[in-house]
Amino acid sequence: MKNSVLVTGGAGYIGSHVVQQLVTRGERVVVIDNLSTGFRDAVCGAELVVGNVGDRALVARLLREHHVEAVMHFAAHTVVPESVSDPLKYYGNNTCNTHRLLACCAAAGVGRFIFSSAAAVYGVTDNGIADEGTPTQPINPYGASKLMSETILRDFCATGAMRHITLRYFNVAGCDPLGRIGQSTPHATLLIRVACEHAVGKRASLSIFGTDYDTPDGTGIRDYIHVDDLASAHLRALDHLRDGGESLTLNCGYGHGYSVREVIDAVQRVGGQPSSVVELPRRAGDTPILIARSDRLKQNLDWQPQYDDLDFIVRTALLWEKQLARKSAPLASASRA
Ligand code: UD1
Repeated sequence: MKNSVLVTGGAGYIGSHVVQQLVTRGERVVVIDNLSTGFRDAVCGAELVVGNVGDRALVARLLREHHVEAVMHFAAHTVVPESVSDPLKYYGNNTCNTHRLLACCAAAGVGRFIFSSAAAVYGVTDNGIADEGTPTQPINPYGASKLMSETILRDFCATGAMRHITLRYFNVAGCDPLGRIGQSTPHATLLIRVACEHAVGKRASLSIFGTDYDTPDGTGIRDYIHVDDLASAHLRALDHLRDGGESLTLNCGYGHGYSVREVIDAVQRVGGQPSSVVELPRRAGDTPILIARSDRLKQNLDWQPQYDDLDFIVRTALLWEKQLARKSAPLASASRA
């Protein structure tokens, strides 16, 4: 009997939080991750197989030997500027490898697929609010690579061989509230992570990219969703497919946003440290406002957020950042000695 879930990229930031929730509720989980950006320690309570999602022989073996009934596909490159400078890397890993993974699922008769997509598929929207019917016009290869994968998946599912839930993530932030796992990728660029690195002394200052947007305080507004709320949406998606539910594409956000200044204020409030803020011109490729319409997620998956609270998101991100700083402290002093 097919009874386990294959999680690709389960050693990464979002994947590891999903694996933790799956394991906690007693699911059988196997992770495939090449550890290019993931961390072995982030996989708690599941078997980790180190390898590439594009390795058909390996994936076919895992699907067979672990009696996989559903695949959750997180493995991807996610750095937008890098996708502009090296698009082939993004189309290769994100799109071609999704195609290979689907071909393996087709051969093995795996009929349930949950796909990590991104708000980047929308590009720049007219009013900054995106529902699932908003035209998809990605403005960078990262977004295009995700949209192509969505298309391949949708067309394959239209044959009746598989059902999917495609989740379009907005700005994912925060970490496990108990501090067991978190976001460890070096060279962080995402606002909440960068602000927390500043709060623990890892960065001397914090930049605001653009203070002249047409928003109440002039800075960009985003819909920040706590990673554990996003993770629980994946478990609800799995339940939906197991219950025979139809294929769906759903936004994952809270439906409201915060400005860069509001995020920085929250980090100051929670961290108790003043910030050294530098105001810079707009960052290329940034849109003024991006907020999800997420009613469909709530209605179709019976999903309710638990952590829709900016201070809570920041508190969990800061908890993790402090742990990372503690872990790296002995190394830093050893290298100075
Ligand atoms: C980025 C990606 C997006 C991806 C999302 C979640 C880009 C252009 N977009 O979104 O495709 O889906 O992450 O992974 O890379 N900001 C500052 N100072 C900083 C960092 C950011 O002011 O040091 C501002 C940005 O200008 C923006 C907001 O904070 O207004 C959020 O930025 P960021 O956290 O980088 O995420 P996005 O660019 O929205």
